[in-house]
Amino acid sequence: MLANKRILLIIGGGIAAFKSLDLIRRLRDQGASVTPVLTKAAEEFVTPLSASALAAQKVYRDLFDLTDEAEMGHIELSRAADLVVVAPATADLMAKMANGHANDLASTLLMATDKRVLIAPAMNVRMWQHPAMQRNLATLQGDGVLVVGPDEGAMACGEFGPGRMAEVPEIIAAIGAALAEGPLKGKHVLVTSGPTHEPIDPVRYIANRSSGAQGTALAAALRDLGARVTFVTGPATVPPPGGVDVVRVETAQEMAGAVKSALPADVAVFAAAVADWHVANAAEQKMKKDSSGGFPALDFVENPDILAGVAQMGEGRPRLVVGFAAETESVEAHAIAKRARKGCDWIVANDVSPATGIMGGTENAVTLITEGGAEAWPRLPKPEVARRLAARIAAALG
Ligand code: C5P
Repeated sequence: MLANKRILLIIGGGIAAFKSLDLIRRLRDQGASVTPVLTKAAEEFVTPLSASALAAQKVYRDLFDLTDEAEMGHIELSRAADLVVVAPATADLMAKMANGHANDLASTLLMATDKRVLIAPAMNVRMWQHPAMQRNLATLQGDGVLVVGPDEGAMACGEFGPGRMAEVPEIIAAIGAALAEGPLKGKHVLVTSGPTHEPIDPVRYIANRSSGAQGTALAAALRDLGARVTFVTGPATVPPPGGVDVVRVETAQEMAGAVKSALPADVAVFAAAVADWHVANAAEQKMKKDSSGGFPALDFVENPDILAGVAQMGEGRPRLVVGFAAETESVEAHAIAKRARKGCDWIVANDVSPATGIMGGTENAVTLITEGGAEAWPRLPKPEVARRLAARIAAALG
């Protein structure tokens, strides 16, 4: 199942490191090659000699080992693999990963790699449940890091609970899944997300309440199905996902330009809440209060409709163009009309009335409008809506 796959296995310093030796054997049984990297702490638990004997390969240990740099630099080492696996992933190693540290070989490889990373956490139950750990875990998942385990059970420290490293067969299954080619492999997907900011003067702007959460989750879900994702985002409150090409913009006009530059794409999804207008007479200098009590007059000009432009572009049009419709009343009827007016294939409609808590919230209740009609989906966490939508997109291209 793993024939000719190259695994870079980073072994962290925890008691579960002994299982990683067995992991090396089992991976090789399946036809994979394993290049082990040991952290300093790992060497307290397993010896470099055992790891290299089982892998039948050189073990890498030190960032400043000049012989290694002459043979294979750390950047090359981080990219020569098909997948990077961290087992056991200790609390310390995960904290380093989540915060971008690069002060030893393992953390530097993890920063430099362009490959997917799968971690098998292993630590004491209290450490696993610590808010700092859970924050780091959420950050890593947001960056596209895959996670297997931990399992629940008796631990070497005598306590009981989640924190045991996943068993070797479970890790091997996760490695197989991570290496499987996703249905969107080879496809380029463009996603717009977040609000736009339209300046009034150098310090003031017109904005909306979009957090960018749904667009971000969607970009991550499409990436997880193997797509190359270009993510054009306005000033969102949630950070962009890892493993996608991020293009940051501020205004609708900048977004239109970035979308144009990102084409061609197989699929384009317009999740951004684009301002409909910008201020034509935005002031060059900060506007001053008028001592006579008058209000400034703002002249509004319509922004380019980015979605409609791409949906109606003729030659070079993405095969599937998906728009969003944020409505506060008659959601389905407005969305059906919008699909026809914009010329897109699908509309993902949602009710953003303040009472729903959807805009800026963690859940979404959408109605998918396609050529075939309207489908109301149940209220779900935004990442789950994203996964379902990504799966539908993959099926439509299939
Ligand atoms: O017209 P309305 O703003 O309701 O349409 C929403 C859909 O159109 C969203 O998919 C949004 O990203 C897109 N849109 C756009 N450019 C605009 C306005 C909206 O791409 N100027």
